[in-house]
Amino acid sequence: MDPSNVRPSEMERIVNDALAEKFIDAQVQAIKEQVGDRKVLLALSGGVDSSVVAALLIKAIGRQLVCVHVNHGLLRKGEPEQVIKVFRDEMNANLIYVDATDRFLGLLAGVSEPERKRHIIGEEFIKVFAEEAAKLEGIRFLAQGTIYPDILESEKGIKAHHNVGGLPPELDFELVEPVKLLFKDEVRVVGKALGLPDAMVYRQPFPGPGLGVRCTGAITRERLEAVRESDAILREEFAKNGLEGKVWQYFMIVPDYKSTGIKDGKRSFEWPVIIRAVNTRDAMTASVPDVPFALLEHITERIVSEVKGVNRVLYDLTPKPTGTIEWE
Ligand code: XMP
Repeated sequence: MDPSNVRPSEMERIVNDALAEKFIDAQVQAIKEQVGDRKVLLALSGGVDSSVVAALLIKAIGRQLVCVHVNHGLLRKGEPEQVIKVFRDEMNANLIYVDATDRFLGLLAGVSEPERKRHIIGEEFIKVFAEEAAKLEGIRFLAQGTIYPDILESEKGIKAHHNVGGLPPELDFELVEPVKLLFKDEVRVVGKALGLPDAMVYRQPFPGPGLGVRCTGAITRERLEAVRESDAILREEFAKNGLEGKVWQYFMIVPDYKSTGIKDGKRSFEWPVIIRAVNTRDAMTASVPDVPFALLEHITERIVSEVKGVNRVLYDLTPKPTGTIEWE
């Protein structure tokens, strides 16, 4: 194994602000030494790891960091806006925002097979990113939000993490990976110390293919909007009712069939949406939390009255196994 990929046994676990500050100072120094006055590129998804890397690099080299935020049209409500607000407006980042929604949805039109959808989204993401990189001059480095579990899992052959050794040949950059020896909880402590908002630092996991794997079968704009709006209501209600940070992951799914109902005294033929909420330690197995029935009723009431095209709400009671957390 590359010795720089091994966490030294004497390395103290970062559990508080003081240790985070110490780590940040050391990394800022190391980044400055590695990069000098040259430029670094970063794909900024808005997830915890890439956001912390962005904040660290901004502290170290300011606008020599070029962040590219690709909106594939499958993000949750308010996500691209938050990335722009936090990084461009508040941290004065050099941020390129690419709205590639039409490209992705065009390629995905009529594609119903889940792995094919994932593949298209992953490939197109790299293409869009590489195109943006080609427009820039003088980029020498690529920053990545690789964390220690990614390295350990790649070494053990559990998964080929996209952050480890997965660079397409046209992106021939030297890597900058300042959090690669940290565990997730340490990345969060560092993110807090760097002043990132809680909504980013404690964000629940969100898959790379995003809402694309929660809009089952062939994605349409109408169903995507239905799942995005339903998800926003679910998150708002979980936050209001003290479940944010207590339930590990929660989201909505929209299947690709309709059912009969009644709306405004007339027959409606619309989609159901499904609430998925799980608790887990490592996502390998998961249990379903006992969400108060009154809250489920309230969420249902809001979704069927506020979200266009939805007339039914279900709660998935299935633990993992047998159900995976995502539906696709
Ligand atoms: P499953 O559905 O396999 O999910 O029980 C376990 C955890 O992994 C997330 N997940 C993904 N993350 N790309 C990702 O980056 C993916 O394609 C993907 N599929 C599932 C899922 O949200 C859960 O946290």
